[in-house]
This record gives sequence, structure tokens and C-alpha cells, in this order.
Amino acid sequence: MSDEVERRRAPRVIAIANQKGGVGKTTTAINLGTALAAIRQKVAIIDLDPQGNASTGLGVPPQERKLTAYDVLIEGDPLHAAMVKTVVPGLSIVPSDQLLSGVELELADDQRRSYRLKRAIDKSLTELSGEALDYILIDCPPSLNVLTVNSLTAADSILVPLQCEFFALEGLSQLLRTVDRVRGHLNSRLDIQGVVLTMYDGRNNLSAEVAADVREHFGDKVYKTMIPRNVRVSEAPSVGKPVLLYDLQCSGSQAYISLAKEIVQQERKRRREEQGEVA
Ligand SMILES: Nc1ncnc2c1ncn2[C@@H]1O[C@H](COP(=O)(O)OP(=O)(O)O)[C@@H](O)[C@H]1O
Ligand SMILES: [Mg+2]
Repeated sequence: MSDEVERRRAPRVIAIANQKGGVGKTTTAINLGTALAAIRQKVAIIDLDPQGNASTGLGVPPQERKLTAYDVLIEGDPLHAAMVKTVVPGLSIVPSDQLLSGVELELADDQRRSYRLKRAIDKSLTELSGEALDYILIDCPPSLNVLTVNSLTAADSILVPLQCEFFALEGLSQLLRTVDRVRGHLNSRLDIQGVVLTMYDGRNNLSAEVAADVREHFGDKVYKTMIPRNVRVSEAPSVGKPVLLYDLQCSGSQAYISLAKEIVQQERKRRREEQGEVA
């Protein structure tokens, strides 16, 4: 397939979700997005967390957020209209709005509330493929609410960040049940993109035990790359930059680059298999 034709395919939509807070969803959205852009993929992040940490972490402060994910979900604005460029070439973002925290109530009477994000993406597909977008990453809030359900309904797959700590697997069965329910009722093609272990601490036996447990449970769905606990990763958002721009050489940046490469390879393989099935 020529590069040109390959480019015009619809973007792969990946929801970064885990109803636990503080496991590295937003950090992964920002830095995986940046690392994918660094290896020449065109990426858009949708910030669906009312906290707006992905927007802030990518240098889009609240006063610069004109159209937001709220307008997309509630006012029906198409996705491409709300996309703004970030400090990273090739990476744009649909910023968040605190108003997103009220969406649950605002949509309570809408029978088709779960399809809102999907509709907005579909409305934009021509424009989005015109921009040759390869990936859309959705940064989900820390709950299984209407926002997360919208992103699972709109997504091709879910990427689950798991923190290497004692309770890592707790709550995961609830997340997987939600995935099954969404598959059954809202989006039959929802796939598990993978599980990424975050905040790995090599000096800590517990981290290694948790990692081994998760690998036993999920097999090759777990990425080889583990994101290490690295203070540079947590410092970067305070200057409105992804860690790759803040300190490219640090272990956190290098890990996100290696995760991005794994995902690009995984996608190539998946597409080859799909084409094989069609042929
Ligand atoms: N690899 C890492 N090393 C050190 N700190 C990290 C790392 N990943 C995330 N953090 C920090 O942990 C906290 C929670 O991460 P965040 O990505 O906001 O989680 P979530 O979006 O799942 O709530 C943040 O303060 C973030 O800076
Ligand atoms: Mg977050």
C-alpha cells in the first residue's frame, strides 16, 4: 500500500482508561502522544477529564481554551473545530472544560448520550483524515461515568495504565466488566489495545511482583516497556511541557518513546492481519 493511501485511513482511536485516579492516565496521554508525534505519527488528544491536566500539561491554559470537549459533547461541535495545536509539532488537543463535570446530569434524559463523542468524531472523519491523523488518544476521567462510556463507545480500543503497587489489580475486573458491557450494547469492535505498567520502581520487590502478576494475568497484552517512576516525569507538567521536551534523556522519556514504538509496530501487525483477512 502506498504511503499516500495508507495516510488517508481513519485514525486509530484509543481510550486511555482506568477508573482509579493517579495511575498515570494523563501522563501517558501527554507523553505517549508526544512520543508518537516524535516518530512522525500525527496525533490528537481529547482531554475528557474536567480537571484538564492534559490540556495544562501540554501548554494550553484555561484562558486559551475556546472550543472544548464540552462543546463537542453538549453543543455538537465537530471534533476538528475544537482541536488546537500544542507545543509539540504533530500533536494537537481538544482541551477540557470544568463544565465537563456536569455532563452526567445534562445528558441524563438523552437516550443516546453514550454516542455523543462517537458522533462528533464521525462528523469530522473527512477533515481528520485530510489532516492525515494517525491516532486519537482520549484521556479519560478517573471514573466509569458517562464521559468514560462515551470514550469507550467512540474508541477502537482501550489502553489501561496500571500502577505497579499492591492494589494494582483491584478494580480491574470492574473495568473489564464495563468493557464487556460496552462491547455488548454500544460498540462491538472495542478491543484491548494493551496494558502499560507505570511508575515501576526497579529497587522495589513489590513492583517486580506486581509486574509479574499482571503479565501472568494478561500475557502478551502487557507491553514489554514499563514506565519507570521518574521525578522528571512528574516535574514536566509544571512547566506546561511533556517530559520529552523537558528532559529527553531521562528514563521516563526514553520509556515513552519505546512504548510508542511498540504501539506503532502493534498497529502495523494488526493492519497486515486485517488486510490478510480481507484478501
Ligand atoms: N512515571 C512516573 N514517574 C513519576 N511520577 C509520575 C509518573 N507517572 C505519573 N506520575 C505522577 O503521578 C501523579 C498521577 O499521574 P496522572 O497521570 O495524573 O494519573 P491519572 O491521570 O491516572 O490520575 C501525577 O502527579 C504524575 O505527575
Ligand atoms: Mg488524569
